Parts: sequence; C-alpha cells; structure tokens
Amino acid sequence: MIDVEGLTMVYGRGRHERQRALDGATFSVPDKSIFGFLGPNGAGKTTTIRILATILPPTGGTAVIEGHDVVREPIAVKSAIGYMPEVPGYYPTMTAEEHLDYWGAFYRMPKADRRARAKELLELVGLKDERAKKAKAYSHGMLKRLGLAQALLHDPPVLVLDEPAGGLDPYGIIFFRNLMKDLNKAGKTVFLSSHILSEVAQTCTHVGVIDRGRVVAVDTVEGLQSRIGGAGSVRCLVEAHNVPDAALRGLMDVQHVKDVQRTDWGLIVAMDTDVRSSVNAFLVGLGVPVVGLKLAEVTLEDAFVALTGGGAA
Ligand SMILES: Nc1ncnc2c1ncn2[C@@H]1O[C@H](COP(=O)(O)OP(=O)(O)OP(=O)(O)O)[C@@H](O)[C@H]1O
Ligand SMILES: [Mg+2]
Repeated sequence: MIDVEGLTMVYGRGRHERQRALDGATFSVPDKSIFGFLGPNGAGKTTTIRILATILPPTGGTAVIEGHDVVREPIAVKSAIGYMPEVPGYYPTMTAEEHLDYWGAFYRMPKADRRARAKELLELVGLKDERAKKAKAYSHGMLKRLGLAQALLHDPPVLVLDEPAGGLDPYGIIFFRNLMKDLNKAGKTVFLSSHILSEVAQTCTHVGVIDRGRVVAVDTVEGLQSRIGGAGSVRCLVEAHNVPDAALRGLMDVQHVKDVQRTDWGLIVAMDTDVRSSVNAFLVGLGVPVVGLKLAEVTLEDAFVALTGGGAA
C-alpha cells in the first residue's frame, strides 16, 4: 500500500529559477494492485517515483509505503520497495552475475544465498544466457532486465518502476507485461510509470493520471474509461447523412441510449451497453439510410487526453 498526500516538489533554490514539479499530488495505490502512473512528459512522474524511492526529499506533503514514511523512515521504506530507475545504473566491466552478487552483499545476504538468488533472478528476467557478459556490452533491453533483477533482489513486497517498458521492443514489452502480472499474482504491489497507454490498459488494474504536478484521476482501468465515456461507456459511430432532428430526439428514448451527438458524417451514440441493433432498427424504421454502424469503445487514450486537457508541458 502506498499513500501519497499533498506531495509538493519545488526544484531550485534562492535566486535560481524555481520549478514546481509536484503541486499537491494525492493518491493511493491499493495493496496488491498493478498501478499505472500515466502522464505527459514533465508531468512529475519521475519526481514522484524518486520521492517514493527515498532518493529525493519532497518540499512538502507525505508519502507512506507499507506504513513507513519516506522522509522519517527511509531505511524501512528501502527494504519494503524494489526500485528501478528509468535508466538503470551499472558498472561497465561487471557481468550480470557479478552485479547481483555485489548488490546482494549490500543487503548482507550470505554468499551461498546470493549465488542461488542471482541464478533464480537471471532466469526470471531472461538474462540467463547473458549472465557472464560484461554490462558495457548489454543492449538497452538487457540493462532494463538487469535493473529489474536488482529491484527484486531482496524480495520486496512493493515494486516502484520508472517506465519499465520504455524503449523496449514488442517482445520486451510482452515479456515485462507478463512478468508484472506474474509478480502481482505472487502477491507483489506494482507501481509503474508509463506513457504507453495501451500498455497500461493491458497490464494494470488501476491507473493514476498526473498532469502538471497534480493527480487528476485515480481509478480502475474500466472505471476511468467509463467515466470519460460520460453517461455511456460504449459509443457507436453511425454513418448516415441528413438525419432529421426528430430521429435524434427519438433515439434518446431507445433503451440503453444515453446521449446522441451529431457530426458531419452522422451520429455518435453513447450507450451503457451495446445496443447497435436497436439503434439501427430505429433509424431504418424512420427511413434514415444508415451507411455504417461501428462500435468505438472509449480507450484509455481518450481518457488521458480528456483528463490532461489534451496536451503536454
Ligand atoms: N533536477 C531537476 N531540477 C529542476 N527541475 C527539474 C529537475 N528534475 C525534473 N525537473 C522538472 O520537474 C518537472 C517534472 O519532471 P519529471 O521528470 O518528474 O517528469 P516526468 O513526468 O517523469 O516526465 P517524462 O515523461 O519526460 O519522464 C519538469 O518540468 C522538469 O523539467
Ligand atoms: Mg520521467
């Protein structure tokens, strides 16, 4: 469980230019959820994640992870979370095996345990065949896998991952998605940031949308989609010309239809369930020539654009 309340972060001091990166961000990440933190460039995702990882002290507000305050109990927080930065750090001349052994020693793991854990993790993140290669010869995707292995080393209940799918090829994206789901099934809470809407929609159980330092929505993926859909969670695009006003009004009375809008190519009908056949039957019954009728579900992308006012900083 992560609880963030009124978090503010102002970069820069004194006479230097100040940058308000977080402006009272408030949200909760439910236990054992996969929480996607979505926002445009510069919205404050990395700043939030660095505060959660106890690397950056906030200017104001609180963040509590597994009951521990990030400012007052950074050591307890560090042992409760596995953190992966956007670009994981590494030592160029060390192999993956050596990295995990080195980091394991930091956690005071006994040598034999470190060896067994490294083997298990390299297998889990798909680096088994590259385990003896020096990190300077790793691709971006391989470094991300190594970063995740590091985050998992001490088996923390919460993972905090900054853009885990960033820069990965489709195989890498699918691999990470499945891994997130498996880790979540095994009981871990996953907090990840992303720009990739489709990725969040497919991977996450919950979404938080951040824009200009404020969290503008927190919901389940489905909840967010239906909220943005307005009254209806499903929209149907009706291609038809010269629809009379009476037909528009009449459509509003068709069961499950919540809203009708006219466009230059026809109508957008919002429904709370898919009643395309009734819509079609009603229009045809009135003699309206319906050219096409297509379902357009509200996507997370629609939600994102609507909530962030359509644009980035
Ligand atoms: N060290 C810093 N000093 C000054 N300003 C900073 C610093 N780090 C970030 N910022 C500013 O804070 C704001 C939020 O940045 P942040 O990196 O948290 O955004 P983000 O949501 O992670 O963006 P991206 O999607 O590009 O990774 C931006 O306006 C950024 O310029
Ligand atoms: Mg970032």
